[in-house]
Formats: sequence, C-alpha cells, structure tokens
Amino acid sequence: MSQDRLIIFDTTLRDGEQSPGASMTKDEKVRIAKALEKMRVDVIEAGFPIASVGDFESVQAVANVVKDSTVCGLARALEADIARAGEALKGAASARIHTFIATSPVHMQRKLRMSPDQVVEQAVWAVKRACEFTDNVEFSAEDAGRSELDFLCRIFEAVIDAGATTINVPDTVGYNLPNQFGETLRLLLERIPNADRAVFSVHCHNDLGLAVANSLSAVMNGARQVECTINGLGERAGNASLEEVVMAVRTRQDVFTCDTGLDTTQIVACSKLVSNITGFPVQPNKAIVGANAFAHESGIHQDGVLKHRETYEIMRAEDVGWTQNRMVLGKHSGRNAFRSRLDALGIVFHSEEELNAAFARFKDLADKKHEVFDEDLQALVTERGIEAENERVRLVSLRVVSETGETPNADVTLSIDGEERSVSAEGSGPVDAAYKAIEALVTTGADLKLYSVNAITSGTDSQGEVTVRLEKGGRLVNGQGADTDIVIASAKAYINGCNKLLEPALRAHPQGGDV
Ligand code: KIV
Ligand code: ZN
Repeated sequence: MSQDRLIIFDTTLRDGEQSPGASMTKDEKVRIAKALEKMRVDVIEAGFPIASVGDFESVQAVANVVKDSTVCGLARALEADIARAGEALKGAASARIHTFIATSPVHMQRKLRMSPDQVVEQAVWAVKRACEFTDNVEFSAEDAGRSELDFLCRIFEAVIDAGATTINVPDTVGYNLPNQFGETLRLLLERIPNADRAVFSVHCHNDLGLAVANSLSAVMNGARQVECTINGLGERAGNASLEEVVMAVRTRQDVFTCDTGLDTTQIVACSKLVSNITGFPVQPNKAIVGANAFAHESGIHQDGVLKHRETYEIMRAEDVGWTQNRMVLGKHSGRNAFRSRLDALGIVFHSEEELNAAFARFKDLADKKHEVFDEDLQALVTERGIEAENERVRLVSLRVVSETGETPNADVTLSIDGEERSVSAEGSGPVDAAYKAIEALVTTGADLKLYSVNAITSGTDSQGEVTVRLEKGGRLVNGQGADTDIVIASAKAYINGCNKLLEPALRAHPQGGDV
C-alpha cells in the first residue's frame, strides 16, 4: 500500500492544558515539548499566546528550544491574537500560526453574533494576516462537526485561496459519529476545488468516547493530519489520544494507506511524563499506556502468549516503550549512568548545575531506597521543576506524631518569603494534621478538591507520589510531591499547590472570546 505521511499534531500543551486542573508551568511545558520532539511529533501546539503572559512565555520558550518539530501557537481570528502568536514564535526553527473562528449556526448566531458572510471575511483576513508572520498557517472552523457542509466548503475554499496550508475540521463538542465524520471529510475533499493545496486535518473531542474512532474514520477518508494529546487529555472529556491513534494506524497497516513518522518507543515515557506533571493518573486499563495494557491475567492467555506471542497480543510492549529490562540505578551508580538513563527517558537538563542538583537528589534517594527505577527518576525531575520555580513557600521541617489512641499531631516549619515560621496542629490523621498546620501558616483559604497517593513503584520502600487539587475562587491548581515518606510527600504536594495559588493567574480561554 502507498505510504502517505500522517502528520501528528500534538496539542497536549494547549487543548490538554484546558483540562480543569491540568495547568503546567513554563518549565514543565518545555520538558513535555522536548519529549514530544524526541518522539518525532510533527507539530507541537505549545499554547495560546494571547491568553496570558505565562502562555506567551511558554510558547516562546518552546519555540526557542525545539528544533526538529514545528512549533505552533493558537490565535483567534483577531489582530491582537495573531500578532501575539507571531511574536511568541519568532525564535522557532519552523513556526505555524493556527487561527480559528466558529462556523456552526449556533456559534455564529449566539456566540459571535456575526453573519456567515462576516465570518468568511474575518477568516480570510485572519489567514492573510497570519501569512505575514509565516507561510505555515492553519485554519480551523470551530464546531465544524455541527456546521453546514456547504458553508464549510465555502469558507475552506476561501481560506486556502488566502494562504492557509492546513485546514482543520474540529468536532469541538464531540458530537459526531465515525461513519458520518468520515463522510464529511470525504465530501469536503471531493467538493472543495482547491483542496489539493492544503493538508486536511481533524481535531476530535471525546464527549461520546468517539474521538479516536472519528479521527481514524477521517484518516480513512483522506485526512492527513490528526490533532491529539498524550493520554487523551483535553477540554471536558478530552481529545483523541495520540498513542491510540498512532498505534491503530501502525498496527493496521493492512487498512491504512498512510503512517506516522513517530518513534513509538517513546510513547510510554511521554505518557508517564504528562501524567506525572499534570497529576492526571492513567487508568490501568487504558489502551497502550495503561499499566495492564500488556498484562495477561487469565491462565489461558498466559499460556497462549508463552507459546506464541501473537495468540493474544497485537502489538509488542517494547514497541511502545514498555521495556522488559528497566535499568535500575542504585547508590553506587555514577553520574554518567544517571545522565544516560535520564537521556533515555527523554529528560533534558538546561545546564550542568541542574544536572548536578538532580544527581545530588538522586544520591539522597538512593540512600533511602536501594533500587531507583525509571519512575523514581521521573518523579525526581518533577521535584526539580517544583523547586526550580520561584516558590514563596518552602518546607523546612515536618515532624508528625501518630499513635494508637492518640490524636495525631504535626509540627511544621515553613519558609515563607524567606522568613521561617513554625506551628503545631492536630488532625484526624497525620496528613490532616500536617495540612492544618501548613494552612495555618500560609492561609490560602483554598478547598482541597482531590488528594491522591500512588506508590511510584512496587514494594514498601517505594516513593509515594501525592497529587492534590486545590480550588480557590473558581481557580484550580494541582500540587505534586514525592518522597519515601508519604506524609512528607503529602506536605510537599500541598505546599506545591499553595505556591501555584500564590502566582497570579490571568488567563483567557480560546473558546471564551468574542470572535
Ligand atoms: O475544539 C476546538 O474546536 C479547538 C479549536 C481551537 C481547534 O480546540
Ligand atoms: Zn479542542
């Protein structure tokens, strides 16, 4: 079969970040972008530069470090958005501006309050303006999944004439069904006279659990770019999951006439990194990247796989990065072994100082825990990210007393804006006592919406990885912490969340604006 290229456009850093509670710092976004580049993702949508200074700086930082993937910035069809995206992408080796406007009757009438003619005019203007910054311009018809086909044909033809090189067809609200969505793509490609001058793309949301199926159906009908996210992160029920789309196309080469250029062995590392940074766990039965995705429980299956792997496995675990022989580091491992393991995990350091600091933390951990696994290294580097930021609150010491028949008590000392302060508090358990003490000192007034603790690896010497989600005035932030002592990990996570709440957060939403 002929091998067209299927372009993978990853929007974990933009649509993925729109998952409530999944916001990421600039450093975290750069780490994810480097991992995506290493996986050979074609286009990385790094953010929505007009949304906030933080978003602008993140897109700029990603544009400056990524060399092998195209870096993309989102912009509504507005002058300020496009100019800001152009500015943020200046340093990119290859830059794309992604501009969009809604095209469904309900969005045009109720949200934009614009006539179809005005929408076409605005879209054409926006594409021409974006072309002044780069010749790589993508146009999206927001809510295309509920737009009229004739209108889509009209607006797409006009924006291709205006210079758009990628035409994206989003199922913004996840309303479409696979056969219908595939048919839409087929008809668009058939009817638009200049369709051959652009790559047709799809961007599917998962409200009915059909994002991957809809994307694949579109690919079977001629789409040659899929927009997706690691672990299916994204607005509401999420976007099409990158790993599922990529592995479906790779595994079913008997059906697809195209393939991606991805190094699929990086998939599991990317998935773990995104889960680790966002605090969104991957369900064990998640396809490709779930802990059970390649585990065989039934005796019949185990027997079959031992006799001949293909009896029950359609993919090889190692092809998506589940390594059988995970290298284990320990307290005798040297700096080179540490560096090369991090390198293999796609973890990149900006400076020798950062590497040295991480190595010192690794040695501390290896003293407490004799075998250090890949998962420990990921957590250790996330901790580096946490500490590298200019956090105002730091944990100086924590002492917890927990005894049968006694009320647990915590003594906490924090450094707040450089000044050390201590307090004692009681709680229903050691974590509750520690949180009450921290809150007494920091006084965020936030509600704890989620507290989850996971063992990073197996065994009672495993590090506990704690995620908290804090809410204050409608704003949600995640905090993470890891330690072999889960009460300390819990305190670190709460403090990390407090630091994020103390940062200013002024952020616009792509679908929330005027145009
Ligand atoms: O879902 C959507 O329509 C989007 C657009 C901005 C492409 O995210
Ligand atoms: Zn979207």
